[in-house]
Amino acid sequence: MIKTVSTKPYDDQKPGTSGLRKKVPVFQQPNYAENFIQSIFDSLEGFSGQTLVIGGDGRYYNREVIQIAIKMAAANGFGQVLVGRGGILSTPAASHLIRKYGAFGGIILSASHNPGGPTEDFGIKYNVGNGGPAPEKITDAIFARSKVIDSYKIADAADINIDLEGTQTVEGMTVTVVDPVTDYADLMEQLFDFPAIRRMFAGGFRVVFDAMSAVTGPYAKEILENRLGAPKGSVLNFMPLPDFGGHHPDPNLVYARALYDTMMADDAPDFGAASDGDGDRNLIIGRGIFVTPSDSLALLAANAHLAPGYSKGLAGIARSMPTSGAADRVADKLGIGMYETPTGWKFFGNLLDAGKVTICGEESAGTGSDHVREKDGLWAVLLWLNILAVRKESVIDIVRAHWATYGRNYYSRHDYEEVDTDAANGLISALRDRLADLPSKTFGALTVEKADDFAYHDPVDHSVSEHQGIRILFAGGSRIVFRLSGTGTSGATLRVYIERFEPDTSRHDIETQKALADLIAVADEIAGIKGRTGRSAPSVIT
Ligand code: G6P
Ligand code: ZN
Repeated sequence: MIKTVSTKPYDDQKPGTSGLRKKVPVFQQPNYAENFIQSIFDSLEGFSGQTLVIGGDGRYYNREVIQIAIKMAAANGFGQVLVGRGGILSTPAASHLIRKYGAFGGIILSASHNPGGPTEDFGIKYNVGNGGPAPEKITDAIFARSKVIDSYKIADAADINIDLEGTQTVEGMTVTVVDPVTDYADLMEQLFDFPAIRRMFAGGFRVVFDAMSAVTGPYAKEILENRLGAPKGSVLNFMPLPDFGGHHPDPNLVYARALYDTMMADDAPDFGAASDGDGDRNLIIGRGIFVTPSDSLALLAANAHLAPGYSKGLAGIARSMPTSGAADRVADKLGIGMYETPTGWKFFGNLLDAGKVTICGEESAGTGSDHVREKDGLWAVLLWLNILAVRKESVIDIVRAHWATYGRNYYSRHDYEEVDTDAANGLISALRDRLADLPSKTFGALTVEKADDFAYHDPVDHSVSEHQGIRILFAGGSRIVFRLSGTGTSGATLRVYIERFEPDTSRHDIETQKALADLIAVADEIAGIKGRTGRSAPSVIT
């Protein structure tokens, strides 16, 4: 039985940087999830009889929405749904399944690195057939549809057993419950030199991976401990929990503090890493050194050829605009293309599909390659391990050698979370108004060379994305970027990205906040952060 249920539109279903994210109680309003899922289907064409991948990061409300999504897919005419056992699929694993099985697309249930639980965050994201997040053309259509939707279709069927691998049918549609890990782990085994990493572990190299009670636990256990032979116990917090154990599953120096402290101790393991709620972000820490995501992108790009999957070299590199320019220097040296995109992994999709780039990365702890169309936390960890196994040097030595060759891009992001939305918008629009008169102004030793509101012209589909962040570029390569986060769920988050290039090796040892102190002061002077937000300090510094 297929039911058509009448509904009323909600006016707040605009997908952000990465899908629709709201607090769980918002999603629990009558028909809220149903409206959004139907709006997705109504914005697509040609999926009749096709395959849809469904899975999520296991957070609170995951199972409920999975049932709804499966029944709605059946009612709307999909031929098959592939769902991870227990409703679990990491975001990169979902991307891989879409590609591997030629699915029409996928629905990923996650609010990424945001906390989970009855009053915390939930999210729904649609990915297209290349395995990547839907482009703006589709997310705009979904939002437009959500504002006028008046009914949705759903199979009036009993709940599907998603804990049992195998095939079932709902209203003529096949539901196949798959092991969430195997296909993904096999892909990793193709890309990386597992025997070399196994030998490194057997030789006593110590790794610690914090799954943060989120989705990567089962993946990391299988890959690091079972397939690569890392000692049992190398993977911490490996059980995915609906509330992530009450933790904030964001692998940064604030929320993964315990890992950081472990890695800074005298008896630290050789390599520490963590991933986020849905498994697409990564944190990399060597013994005694945190590797910034921007540096990690540059280092991975410079060394990727050491892994079998990238032995032919890279086609090009892409980074989001606020990400530091460290990777640009690598691209320059390799003589390959470098692309600067707006924040949001979806902007890399066209470049990857067109074969223009092989590796992409963002300052927000995302790195990935053309193996899927999402950023991939464990992929970054495994590429690092592969490089370490081949170079047989420590993380700190590899990073220092990299800085000596390319120079160091000191880099930090200051976040002001949950600030008043009007204040945040006011700050950005005041900056916008000053763009024309900033060039050639001096602030202490710093002279503004250029100031703009970043706009991206996609070289593949020629679409234009405007207002992607205010950039203030100083003579000598220093830079301040201001933008508002597109992923928050309450108030506004102001992000201030600060960068300074230091070619002099004798000055590569300065504490980051000190190295950037003059720029940090100038950022406040230019934008009036304290005055406008009423905050005397950022809530998070990464
Ligand atoms: C998600 C997206 C990333 C983005 C990050 C920060 O993880 O997938 O592409 O860089 O959020 O976005 P925001 O808009 O909050 O700065
Ligand atoms: Zn994520």
